[in-house]
Amino acid sequence: MTATRPRRLRASPAMRRLVAQTRLHPAELVLPMFVREGVSESVPIASMPGVVQHSLDSLRRAAVEAAEAGIGGVMLFGVPLERDSTGTRATDPDGILNVATRAVADEVGEALVVQTDLCLDEFTDHGHCGVLAPDGSVDNDATLERYRDMGVIQAASGSQLLGLSGMMDNQVAAVRDALDSSGFAGTAILGYAGKYASAYYGPFREAVDSQLAGDRRTYQLDPANRREGVREAALDEEQGADVVMVKPASSYLDVLADVAAASSIPVWAYQVSGEYAMLEAAAANGWIDRRRAVLESLVAIRRAGAEAVLSYWAVEAARWIREDG
Ligand code: PBG
Repeated sequence: MTATRPRRLRASPAMRRLVAQTRLHPAELVLPMFVREGVSESVPIASMPGVVQHSLDSLRRAAVEAAEAGIGGVMLFGVPLERDSTGTRATDPDGILNVATRAVADEVGEALVVQTDLCLDEFTDHGHCGVLAPDGSVDNDATLERYRDMGVIQAASGSQLLGLSGMMDNQVAAVRDALDSSGFAGTAILGYAGKYASAYYGPFREAVDSQLAGDRRTYQLDPANRREGVREAALDEEQGADVVMVKPASSYLDVLADVAAASSIPVWAYQVSGEYAMLEAAAANGWIDRRRAVLESLVAIRRAGAEAVLSYWAVEAARWIREDG
């Protein structure tokens, strides 16, 4: 009898390297970055140790560093000084996100894919991702009008890939149409298709100084639902998305695997603020090996089917990947 011995393929580092089925590469990492209006120096985010709200200058420098690390792109989020009910500053060419986009696109637009968050929550005084109807609910179709304008201004500012994270129905079709009829047929759309109403966005609320009082359960997906993630991804693809995403990542690897199996366009995942905060907290306590845990989390997200990952560790992980060869 011949014994089956799977351990043969695990015996040496060289053998393990040769038979690895998933590899990490810096080019498939995207760094989310926050830029805050009216500050001359970066401001730390307490719940995300190591992540900051950038000033325009520090953002520019960090974008250059990101390009040097060889990552694939950056995703920009704006933190405005003033907010109102319709998020006026989101569509103001002098609004912080649009100014920052121009700055980063000028600096590294050839080396990195410059991407922008297309959502109103950072800009509204109620913190919802859209405008409100008189009864206080989030008005889907009125919000689409705002998203159309945001899409055009972001594209004009130099964003190459618009991250539609607001979870309004038909948002991809609306923004695609606005771009195409405004001379921006070449600007790509990332649909946050499977975006779940998650507690793991907690630290992000501090990062963007969110004014949200309630939650987003009337528009983001219910964490209980797996097939719905696949449905949303199919709808985004039909509406013209160039890339779809699942978010958060680590608690939704089943959805990610399903979407990856069903989609004919690239599928990405967003390792969100709470995933970052949890691991950083455990590492700070000496309870977990930080570098190994970060790389393991990224390889797991890739293994489940994400072709690229948005991660607050993108630049550091890219350096580790290079070191590990
Ligand atoms: C919405 C948006 C959110 C995140 C990315 N885009 C917040 C939300 O939906 O509540 C969360 C990202 C993170 O937690 O890292 N503009």
